[in-house]
This record gives sequence, C-alpha cells and structure tokens, in this order.
Amino acid sequence: MSSYNVALNFEDGVTRFVTCKTGEKVLDAAFRARINLPMDCSDGVCGTCKCRAESGSYDLGDDYIDDALTEDEKESGLVLTCQMVPESDCVIAVPASSTACKTEQSRFTATVSKVEPRNDAAVVLELDVDATAPVFLPGQYVNIDVPGSGQYRSYSFSSAPGQSTISFLIKRIPGGVMSTWLESAQPGNKVELTGPLGSFYLRAVERPLLFLAGGTGLAPFLSMLEVLARANSQQRAHLIYGVTRELDLVQVDAIEAYAAKLPNFTCSTVVADTDSTHPRKGWVTQHMPAEALNDGDVDVYLCGPPPMVDAVRKYFDDNGVKPNGFHYEKFTPNAAVRTA
Ligand SMILES: Cc1cc2nc3c(=O)[nH]c(=O)nc-3n(C[C@H](O)[C@H](O)[C@H](O)COP(=O)(O)OP(=O)(O)OC[C@H]3O[C@@H](n4cnc5c(N)ncnc54)[C@H](O)[C@@H]3O)c2cc1C
Ligand code: FES
Repeated sequence: MSSYNVALNFEDGVTRFVTCKTGEKVLDAAFRARINLPMDCSDGVCGTCKCRAESGSYDLGDDYIDDALTEDEKESGLVLTCQMVPESDCVIAVPASSTACKTEQSRFTATVSKVEPRNDAAVVLELDVDATAPVFLPGQYVNIDVPGSGQYRSYSFSSAPGQSTISFLIKRIPGGVMSTWLESAQPGNKVELTGPLGSFYLRAVERPLLFLAGGTGLAPFLSMLEVLARANSQQRAHLIYGVTRELDLVQVDAIEAYAAKLPNFTCSTVVADTDSTHPRKGWVTQHMPAEALNDGDVDVYLCGPPPMVDAVRKYFDDNGVKPNGFHYEKFTPNAAVRTA
C-alpha cells in the first residue's frame, strides 16, 4: 500500500507533514496526526476546509457542492481537505495559524559532524540528526538554538530533504552569537532545532526558474538544486550568485557541479567590490540576461540580506518586471534577542 507525504503550511510559517494512506482524505490524515485543520461539515457542503494546493496531484471526487467549492476555485488550485485524496506528495497552504489548528513546530536534536570555515566569509555546518531525518521543503529553514546562549538563530537548509545529515551555510559575523559559538564548535556537540519553517520553498516546476542569491542566501538554492537534480529536471534554470567581496564566493564548486548534472541549468557570479578583478562587477540586477526573465513567464526565487532583497524588488517594480511567480526570503538579522 502506498502513502503520500502532505506538507501543511500554516499562515504563521509553521509546516507540518502528515502521511496520507492510499485513498485517505487529507482532513482525516491530519486528524490522525492530531492536527485540527479548519472544518465544519466534513461532507463537502460548508467550504470551511478550503485550502490552496501549491503542488501535487490529487482527486477531489464529485461528492461536494458548488457552494463549497466552485469550478473556478477548483481550477485556481483551491481544494476542500475533507474531499481531497492525494495521488502524489502534495503541499497545501492552510489559511490559519498552527496555533489555531492546535499543532506546533517540531523540535529535534542533532549532533555536529562537521564545522568547516570557508575563507573568512562563511562556515559550512553539518549535523547528524539523532532520530529520523527531518522532513522539509527545499528552501525552508529551521531555528537552531545556540548552545549556552539561551538564543536561537534561523538558517536555511542547504542540504536536500530526506537525509539524516543536514547542512547549513552560515555567514561569519565577528562577535555574533552563532558565529562565536561556531568558532569553538566540535564534532559531537549537541544542538536543538525547531522547524521546518517558512513559505520560501520550491513550488511545482512548471516554467523557467530564475534564482537570485545574495551571500549565504545561496543556501536554500543548494537544497533546491539537489532536488531538481534528483528529479532529473529538464526545465531551464539560471542562478545569479552575488556577493560583496570575491572572498565571499563560497561553494561555487557545488553550483558548477549542478551545471554539469542539470542539462538546462546555468549560473553566474557577481561581485560588488569595485576593486575586484572579477569579470562581473556590481549587483545581480546588472547581470540578469533578458532570456532568464523569459518575458515574465518565469518563477523567480530571491534570497539574501534585506538590502539586497529590497533592491531587487525595487528594480522589478521600477522596470515593470512582473514574473509569473515571485518568492523571496530575507535573512533578517536578529534586532532584539530572540530567546530559545
Ligand atoms: C528565515 C531566515 C533564514 C536565514 N538563513 C540564513 C542562512 O542560511 N545563512 C546565514 O548565514 N544566515 C541566515 N539567516 C541570518 C541568521 O539567522 C543570523 O541572523 C546571522 O547568522 C547572524 O547571527 P549571529 O548570531 O552570528 O550574529 P548576531 O549575534 O545575531 O549579530 C551580531 C551583530 O551583527 C549584526 N548582523 C547580523 N547579521 C548581519 C549581517 N548579515 N551583516 C552585517 N551585520 C549583521 C547584528 O545586527 C548584530 O549587531 C537567516 C535569517 C532568517 C530570518
Ligand atoms: S468541512 Fe465542510 S466542505 Fe469540507
């Protein structure tokens, strides 16, 4: 008997995964997992359980009424979870908070297996998860408690889902709470994590992709690229990886390896430092080939520090660039202490 993983993304950024057995409706699978999705009649009549299917294939049957879900709503990707029977892994956006659905973020423990500085710019952190591999969507992040500090920091997975070793690409900030801990972190150290979280994740790949990464904002794209490689994706994808200094360019070898594996994937690097001898200087927006924007028929994913994300958004607005899909993640620093 086959079963499917269904990701439920709540509007507060929490994601929970439930397993749907063959023929099982999403609402029932969620209930088994003690998640109270919005519902009332559970019979396809009231429309209270309406959610948006972000990806995956499914059957809604014909036992519901038009007042609960119109044909137009169905066409636009809305579903009734009390009727929806997955026919593949699915991602569902739930228009309610996780608290309202009486569920909470998962916590898990992991053991440091590698701490590898890359220039003075970043650290690759690898963790072995103590229990089962965490389920997440490529592009999502977790909160990592910084041992001994009572604080946590957020990091995007740079590894792909389904592995018991998870990895992160972390910027080195002199004096920063996480950065300081990483200086003395050793294989064998234990850390606590909470997640997965976030609505920045790779949607169903239906048109060309444009990935724009700023600094360690490369991390989620490494996860997405691995997922595309596993799926042997033939879709066109272009990554522009922009950094401040040449020394900040890390894991370029990893990206180039994907260019060799994925037939229609191309990438380029851009360095802002005007004194650099790099062939492409400036900002990612100055090195965006027109074909990568594909007259707007493109899904753009953008990730990096807030000024870079804001600059790209402004560039799109000012130049009338309206991509079909536009998703972004800001690596907002912790203004105030975030307590674990
Ligand atoms: C959703 C999300 C995902 C994230 N994913 C990643 C990721 O994959 N990789 C990653 O490197 N970071 C990521 N971040 C940022 C990360 O959570 C931390 O903010 C960052 O690593 C700094 O932590 P720290 O403890 O070393 O420094 P802190 O102790 O938080 O900061 C020390 C000082 O440095 C300042 N500061 C913090 N960040 C910067 C910066 N980038 N540039 C200049 N000054 C800064 C702070 O304002 C503070 O004054 C993410 C943030 C969010 C919100
Ligand atoms: S709960 Fe009423 S239509 Fe699904």
